[in-house]
Amino acid sequence: MRQSLLEVADLNVSFGEEDERHHVVKDVGFHIGRGECYGLIGESGCGKTTVLRAIAGLNSDYDGSILLDAQKQPKARRGAGFLRRVQMVFQDPYASLHPRKMVEKVLREPLQIHGFDRQRQRIDEVLVQVGLDPSFRYRYPHELSGGQRQRVVVARALIMEPEILLLDEPTSALDVSVQAEILNLLTRVQRERGLTYLLVSHDMAVIAHVCQRIGMMQHGRIIEEMTSEAVRNGQAQEQYTREFLDASAAFAAALEGDAT
Ligand SMILES: Nc1ncnc2c1ncn2[C@@H]1O[C@H](COP(=O)(O)OP(=O)(O)OP(=O)(O)O)[C@@H](O)[C@H]1O
Ligand SMILES: [Mg+2]
Repeated sequence: MRQSLLEVADLNVSFGEEDERHHVVKDVGFHIGRGECYGLIGESGCGKTTVLRAIAGLNSDYDGSILLDAQKQPKARRGAGFLRRVQMVFQDPYASLHPRKMVEKVLREPLQIHGFDRQRQRIDEVLVQVGLDPSFRYRYPHELSGGQRQRVVVARALIMEPEILLLDEPTSALDVSVQAEILNLLTRVQRERGLTYLLVSHDMAVIAHVCQRIGMMQHGRIIEEMTSEAVRNGQAQEQYTREFLDASAAFAAALEGDAT
């Protein structure tokens, strides 16, 4: 078998103290090969963001193993090496850009931290890569549309040329027409750069469009792993997954009905 680039094993996360303790992520495990897109899907509150935050090193209070290239990562990620290789795109593009930072500053900061040469050239390159004219470097977040803002967020994640992107609902805050634009951008960049994605969404259409394999989460557990082909053919094993797929399809049909 091909060696996994990212592997998560027996991941458990709880919040709160004693009587108020909530076990939110339960024995979660999956592996992602280099260049593969893996999707995590499930209803609101099932633990998707919590899994990503543990992988990204934003929450070191977890049990289990997170391996990158078969190397177990320390819970407190020391040094800048991990962040060069793994970047997260957060759920809310409005909250994830500082309102008083020009795009130029947003993109230059990681380059400065890592002592990168040719900063101006790299900023131009990455803006073009996400479909923005280099003149966008002089804009502030409030001078951007929602879609352009999410392009800047993706540019910031790409600027250090990471190997893995952790994408937390990268399109859910966007207008439906702009969602497709950003998804197409993500799939294009993934192919061009041979990137590895872990994509979280509650929307099966989004996940099946981008990912080859999908983990269905319910109450903190992965209850079933499927190929996106199986999803498209409606071949889920678990009753809960079938209901989830039917509900997603019914919602999509209702939206299409509305549009006519
Ligand atoms: N820092 C925290 N402290 C306490 N509870 C938390 C914390 N972060 C998350 N939770 C709880 O953990 C559960 C899972 O949250 P999480 O954000 O991972 O869900 P999600 O699947 O990403 O949901 P959504 O689709 O709405 O984003 C929720 O019940 C949430 O209230
Ligand atoms: Mg979430």
